[in-house]
Amino acid sequence: MASTHSARILVASNRGPITYTEDESGALTAKRGGGGLVSGLSAIDSEAGAVWVCSALGDGDREAVRRGVGEPGVRMLDIPADVHHAAYNGVANSTLWFVHHMLYQTPLEPSFDAEFRRQWASYETYNRAFAEALAQEAADGASVLVQDYHLTLVPRMLRELRPDLRIGHFSHTPWAPVDYFRLLPDDIAAQVLDGILGADRAAFLTRRWADAFSECARAVLGPDALSGTRIGVHGLGADADFLRARAHEADVDDRMAALREQIGTAPDGTPRRAVVRVDRTELSKNIVRGLHAYRQLLDDRPAWRERVVHLALAYPSRQDLAVYRDYMAEVQRVADDINERYGTPGWTPVVLHLKDDFARSLAAYRLADVALVNPIRDGMNLVAKEVPVVSDEGCALVLSREAGAYEELGDDSMVVNPYDVVGTAAALHEALSLPPAERAERTKRLAGAATALPPTQWFLDQLRALEGAQ
Ligand code: G6P
Repeated sequence: MASTHSARILVASNRGPITYTEDESGALTAKRGGGGLVSGLSAIDSEAGAVWVCSALGDGDREAVRRGVGEPGVRMLDIPADVHHAAYNGVANSTLWFVHHMLYQTPLEPSFDAEFRRQWASYETYNRAFAEALAQEAADGASVLVQDYHLTLVPRMLRELRPDLRIGHFSHTPWAPVDYFRLLPDDIAAQVLDGILGADRAAFLTRRWADAFSECARAVLGPDALSGTRIGVHGLGADADFLRARAHEADVDDRMAALREQIGTAPDGTPRRAVVRVDRTELSKNIVRGLHAYRQLLDDRPAWRERVVHLALAYPSRQDLAVYRDYMAEVQRVADDINERYGTPGWTPVVLHLKDDFARSLAAYRLADVALVNPIRDGMNLVAKEVPVVSDEGCALVLSREAGAYEELGDDSMVVNPYDVVGTAAALHEALSLPPAERAERTKRLAGAATALPPTQWFLDQLRALEGAQ
């Protein structure tokens, strides 16, 4: 592809803002995604010359690249499917994700064998494809914001190709503590850190993750490792204006009516309480332990039986990986067990939805009495921030202290150790028992904290900090 050398601002991430699907007649349809980066970047759409470099992810995307179909400002890379698979599923999602979220437990162990080394070579190839595309697109002195654990090698590679650029790297995940990070083979650990440290600025969602990164860099690369790179913290907040408007559209009202029907009424005729969770079906989200905690609540506090429903929205994620497919099956199995053990003709204790539906997520946010956000570790967790923003009547938050959001929301939440099932059950009881006035007060404070740094501001802050970095 011809180099344009014209973009002033560039973003690089594995998943881009658009996906294409091809129908039977061969026509391509584009669908725009959501998320912090998409709304963040919209803040600078008016300034011409922003380019987003991302991977072609499915057949539709690949076909769009082949036909030269695309949107201005988006460059999709058609990385060979086997290279992408090894880099994305093998290295990024099966290895780096597991390290940062500390997910290895017997029998799920790290495997750094010859197959991993082949995957690592693909990860390098994949990162180089991004670095080269960015080098081609970027104007003199442009700012480049590289995203996440998929692209840790890009900053160093890009710096070598284009020393004139300002380069930032942002991690959306936690960063592993040094002892855990050092599960990685020494040369790989060094490359990951040195790759990010090729940036002028490396930024994180919380101070905790930033400090862990700095500690890893010093331990692995030496005491002066950080001398060329500034470390920043930007705690992405919820997009309140968008969420509040979207949550009151007709399809969300329809979903609410359907969910209320499923939740039903208690024997005394009052509406049942809803303990809501909304997640990708992701091991780090700790959905199974959340179900165990709910079961424990029904055991410890039989008075809640028939009066509460656990509404779990657990959407498919990374289904190419067996461990994710198994996890999804386990979620289903435990939910079925609870329903079999406790359910009555008029009461389904766990209502589980496995099909991704954003309108239904918003409906669940609006009607939740309690939101259960209990990840083992999480970079931020936007569900914890979104629920208080759209809640109709106030919602109590049960929040893991291992979520990045805990730093901002911990004071007004029921804070749990995510491994502690009994403690989580007690927190659920406390949350369900919160007097309505206090619940409303807390929700107001939570919403205030959750929206302190909206996505557009979050993005512009990073850009400004990067521009001041040289
Ligand atoms: C995490 C990562 C993001 C990623 C998202 C969804 O939040 O930090 O970079 O986009 O998970 O994961 P997926 O593998 O579906 O892109």
